Amino acid sequence: MWTREQRYRRLEEATPEEIASLLEIVHACPFRQTFHIQPPMGLMNDPNGLAYFDGYYHVFYQWFPLGPVHGVKYWYHMKSTDLVTWSDEGPAIRPDQDFDSHGAYSGSALERDGELYLMYTGNKRDENWLRYPSQCIAVMNQSGEISKWQDPVISKPPNGYTEHFRDPKVWKGDAGFCAIIGAQRENLTGTVLLYSSPDMETWKFDGELETSLPNFGYMWECPDYFELDNSGVLIFSPQGIETKDDEFQNIYQSGYLIGNKVNLASREFHHGEFKELDRGFDFYAPQTMVDPHGRKILIGWMGLPEIDYPTDKNGWAHCLTIPRELSIQNGKLIQTPVEELQALRKQKIKVQAHIENEIKSIEGLAGTTFEMKIKVARLDAAEFGIEFRANDRKKTVLTYEAKRKRLLLDRSLSGEDVGIEYGTGRACSLDSEIVTVHLFVDVSSVEIFINDGEEVFTSRIFPEEDGQDIRFFANHGSVDMTVEKWAI
Ligand code: FRU
Repeated sequence: MWTREQRYRRLEEATPEEIASLLEIVHACPFRQTFHIQPPMGLMNDPNGLAYFDGYYHVFYQWFPLGPVHGVKYWYHMKSTDLVTWSDEGPAIRPDQDFDSHGAYSGSALERDGELYLMYTGNKRDENWLRYPSQCIAVMNQSGEISKWQDPVISKPPNGYTEHFRDPKVWKGDAGFCAIIGAQRENLTGTVLLYSSPDMETWKFDGELETSLPNFGYMWECPDYFELDNSGVLIFSPQGIETKDDEFQNIYQSGYLIGNKVNLASREFHHGEFKELDRGFDFYAPQTMVDPHGRKILIGWMGLPEIDYPTDKNGWAHCLTIPRELSIQNGKLIQTPVEELQALRKQKIKVQAHIENEIKSIEGLAGTTFEMKIKVARLDAAEFGIEFRANDRKKTVLTYEAKRKRLLLDRSLSGEDVGIEYGTGRACSLDSEIVTVHLFVDVSSVEIFINDGEEVFTSRIFPEEDGQDIRFFANHGSVDMTVEKWAI
């Protein structure tokens, strides 16, 4: 058990020997990833401050350095020219002021006059452990030096809202700067608040974003508002939503509303229903950025709060998802892996397979880290699927039930257990027939894109090291497919 004192111990208090021995334990972990952003040690959570700035993609993330627990949070910085190879820029925002003494919590980035403005939540607690959130600014110049503004720009929540007031997403609107902040009303329901500013310094509270979800969970974390293809999109991570059939199975949810562009004067947002962004076990608190090609790119946290993970014993926890490009089709957000990821592709195998009332592996098709694309050419089986990261004892299984057009990801036999109190299967039904299944498998994760991003399953798995087998199966009939696989 980690004591409060241990959770709020700073990196700066740790001796070089302590850090070296922690790093050694982390390096010995069999579950370290190969192409995902992961913390050098300690716990990572939300991606923060996503931006394309000064020729680089910048990704920061929430970080507690000294162990696999939530404690005093830093912003850790990574940057990249291609969204594939990331250079480690180290800790960026440290919780070293009174107003962020208990954590530099989540926030976002905006370029202004050749500098990158980072707007984040200062989390402060007093001796009675009461929380005092404020919204703060740190500015990064082109040399990567970061300086904090002396005082928060929003010192406390407005009247009518509790201390759960955090995660500003800032953008430049036609009339000035805008920010949206996750909040909880005094009646303990979640919402998001709109602020505006002419100069990033003085912020005016404009009011709530008027959605048609007045009673949807108790807190909305990590809101992100943007416009895409003439629509307004609000992404957020509500807490306190009840499970309903295949939906909302995780401890907390993450999803979006699509509607008309928000009318900033009336704050009205006319939108469709809340849809989950991801159908897998481990996805939360995503953030987006726009790049110079005009692409809208999303990265999420491949983890969830309040769940133990098998890497905890090795002194670290969690990673980020691969970057995904967003588009809108039929009122739905579509996510596709950014094309730059093709640079990871090594040896390729391409085969046609006919699977009929059987389970079989294909000569030469195996691996622990790979990309695999399956195109279904003809299907008359009642169900078909794939087993991967498998050996004689363990496997992760994706099954398609043709009649219900339903996909099921089963990690009950994946390897080391994780979050089993929330079940070992995740499922969703498709709008259309299944055509493509696109997997990115790393040492301890899988991201599955169905029908070019119509649905995505993002999950950690903790397989056995020799779990390299890939098998295909079809029951009550047959399936013809083309399989392309690249080692990574
Ligand atoms: C979401 C979250 C945010 C908060 C951050 C703290 O995972 O709880 O609301 O800013 O994590 O690390």
